[in-house]
Amino acid sequence: MPYTTITGLGHYVPKNVVTNQDLTAVMETSDAWIRERTGIEERRYIDRTKETTTSLAVEASLRAIADAGIDKEEIDFIVFATLSPDYYFPGSGVLLQRELGISSTEIAALDIRAQCSGFIYGLSTADQFIKSGMYKKILLVGAEVHSVGLDFTTRGRNVSVIFGDGAGAVILEATEDQDRAILSTVMHSDGTYAEKLSYMYPGAHGGYFIEKYGLEGFDVEYDLENNQYGGVFWNQDMLDQARVYPHMEGQAVFKMAVRKFPEVIMEALTQAGLSIEDLNLLIPHQANLRINQFVANTMGLCDHQVYNNIMRYGNTTAASIPLALSEARDEGKVKKGDVITLAAFGAGFTWAAAVLRWGK
Ligand code: ACO
Repeated sequence: MPYTTITGLGHYVPKNVVTNQDLTAVMETSDAWIRERTGIEERRYIDRTKETTTSLAVEASLRAIADAGIDKEEIDFIVFATLSPDYYFPGSGVLLQRELGISSTEIAALDIRAQCSGFIYGLSTADQFIKSGMYKKILLVGAEVHSVGLDFTTRGRNVSVIFGDGAGAVILEATEDQDRAILSTVMHSDGTYAEKLSYMYPGAHGGYFIEKYGLEGFDVEYDLENNQYGGVFWNQDMLDQARVYPHMEGQAVFKMAVRKFPEVIMEALTQAGLSIEDLNLLIPHQANLRINQFVANTMGLCDHQVYNNIMRYGNTTAASIPLALSEARDEGKVKKGDVITLAAFGAGFTWAAAVLRWGK
């Protein structure tokens, strides 16, 4: 059975740098609050009429393809992880295929909706396809554009200051060499907490779960009398009540994240037949520097064993891990033979980890 190896890495972020100070012009916040609570100093936002989630993904993909030294026509499967697709449907995978100019290959394109865990869910999915022999060269991308959909008023400040735009991509190929392979992937979820970090409007739920679980703060009027059909997926009330923004209960997310990160990291290492002493570099999802520092302390990891770049990019959700992995490699922090663990936690709640031995 073949193993899966990463043969190409690439990342791309928009040029537009937005500092914490810049955000103080549109909402009541401060550089000190954002730095202290999240570690974020600045983030990148797209040029709104010239860039999209897919266009960022194209740039990152072209870099990964060049890094792998393959022709883009050799790719036999696309996996695209994002919570901010260009269109509600079709997914961004087919847009990426088109924009890369490889539509004539008619390869399959799969979109993954696992939010911050999306990249590792995608990695695990791609790994299974390669191990089964079905595909040999897979393009896996995590890309996000948050900046066009956040609430840039004081009302939305707890969420808006955290997120940024960016993309990261990898080329995955089959190998017989276990010394340069993905050694394990693990994935989990617990839907009990689905609404704690969510974007529920517009949506097809019609208030069903809000009533069922007595969720406070999600109420929207549905004018069903005047809408015999329709009027549920989206309506004017959602706009008037400013519901069309992400919702986050930050402390609930924090508490669960610092519990699940160590668990899933240890599970993936154990499954790979390794222990924490074998770990050279942990690349955690860049949700919040405080979460990552807490996890590092809990696990007894030194600063040089954990890679963070949230200071410069904010939380880029599905893009954060490939962006960090690619940047860490460019900075010489990932060396041949190193044991690297990728770990994520996010909306769902979902969490996941992967262990690989770096072979490039
Ligand atoms: N600027 C200034 N003040 C703010 C801001 C802001 N941007 N946001 C919230 N506040 C205020 C609140 O209004 C509140 O004021 P009050 O005391 O007068 O009511 C006060 O700060 C504290 O608010 P909390 O929400 O309780 O702040 P908390 O200490 O929990 O920090 C944070 C918020 C940073 C989001 C924290 O809960 C956290 O780190 N949670 C983890 C969630 C996370 O990292 N999410 C990332 C995305 S999810 C993922 O990727 C896994």
